[in-house]
Amino acid sequence: MMVKTLPQVHIETFGCQMNESDSELVRSLLKQEGFGFTEDRERADVVLVNTCAIRENAHKKIYLHLSELRAVKKQRPLVVGVLGCMAQNLKSELAEKEPLIDVLAGPDSYRQLPRLLTNALDAQEQGLRQKAFALDLSEYETYENIMPDRNNGVNAWITVMRGCDNFCSFCVVPYTRGRERSRDPESILLEARDASTRGFKQITLLGQNVNSYCHEGWDFAKLIAAVADTPGIDRVRFTSPHPKDFPPALIDAIATHPKICKHIHLPLQAGSDRILELMGRTYTGAAYLALVDRIRSRIPDIVLTTDIICGFCSESEEDFQTTHRIIEQTQLDSAYIFKYSERKHTIAARKYADDVPDRVKGMRVAQLLETQRRITLERNRRYIGKTMQVLVERDATRSSTQAMGKTDGNITVVWEKGTGDFRPGTLITKQIFDASAATLYGK
Ligand code: SAH
Ligand code: SF4
Ligand code: F3S
Repeated sequence: MMVKTLPQVHIETFGCQMNESDSELVRSLLKQEGFGFTEDRERADVVLVNTCAIRENAHKKIYLHLSELRAVKKQRPLVVGVLGCMAQNLKSELAEKEPLIDVLAGPDSYRQLPRLLTNALDAQEQGLRQKAFALDLSEYETYENIMPDRNNGVNAWITVMRGCDNFCSFCVVPYTRGRERSRDPESILLEARDASTRGFKQITLLGQNVNSYCHEGWDFAKLIAAVADTPGIDRVRFTSPHPKDFPPALIDAIATHPKICKHIHLPLQAGSDRILELMGRTYTGAAYLALVDRIRSRIPDIVLTTDIICGFCSESEEDFQTTHRIIEQTQLDSAYIFKYSERKHTIAARKYADDVPDRVKGMRVAQLLETQRRITLERNRRYIGKTMQVLVERDATRSSTQAMGKTDGNITVVWEKGTGDFRPGTLITKQIFDASAATLYGK
């Protein structure tokens, strides 16, 4: 009797942590239906690409990757599936222009993947070519009964809410991930206990708008405190919150629970009230500053990070200088700074002209990066001479004689691997003797 081997799937993930988390769900869903997984693309029968659509650069990266896969597919049979936000956003365009793609599935359609891939493999065997799409967004899907197939490691992602209803005018996420919906807290706590049993030491709660979590009387403050009570878990993080949902109870939970990390990523996007209004962010520069003050007076050692967009529609030099001033004034610990990139379907694409020249966007990004780099370096240098608790993660990127881990505030620490202080998942203490804008050096 001929034994049919399991189809082997290779999955590549682009974009944010939500996509990382979704790829773990996809692995779980496919394994349940008898698919195998391989790290080696050369040995794969199916290649899945989980994509991002947040900026044009993200698209470009994925198109480049797809052209690589096209070369592979010319050599041998291969089923190619494109998942995630770009699949959802570019449905018809991707499907028509890209003969390479067999299956296209958006973020709410992953339960259909086992069937779609099986069909595609069968069709390929019979020498047929067919395309299959699963691109309906759902108001309910939270995959809450699927235990993610996590890569062995220290951190477990737990997606607690999906979608986003904020419709910031620049942002594609509400169109690629659909309406906001929160998961049942019981299923989240079950997942947290499961992760702990499997040896994970850190949990990161995920959602595009994570602090607007809301489920039958549970808000985000109550949820994160309950997750942090999970026995065996040392650290709980969350990303990304919106500045509009920061009630005192949430700040209190972060301040008082020893397991909740003292790091908040607090996207500002822009400093000028006129631009914030056009962006649909619902707060002013002054309200953001007041929130930073409230957080810092309650949690003095908090690490605050942010996201900034430069060159949004009609942003004047004066608007930009307001952003720059807020960055100087707040002295946040670090910032991701992006050039505005117009996205299809968004409110900004429909209503406002993308009228800041690319060169100007670039100059503004460079100016902010330089300022933030100086601030980050100053902030990091305050740790020199201090002893910090570090959660060990892995080998350092630069050298295999070094290891890396994170402080409670999510700052990277690198040190020479000695004996006994390199077990991923352990909490160790390191004395900081030097600091750059990206890294603390410990001994
Ligand atoms: N949900 C998160 C952000 C998700 S996207 C939040 O609300 O904070 C991550 C970051 O990408 C955003 O904070 C924003 O700074 C940036 N971003 C989103 N859309 C963009 C666009 N069209 N052009 C440039 N940057 C963008
Ligand atoms: Fe996008 Fe705004 Fe929603 Fe964040 S809150 S995902 S920036 S629409
Ligand atoms: Fe990208 Fe989708 Fe995340 S657009 S940033 S992968 S939510």
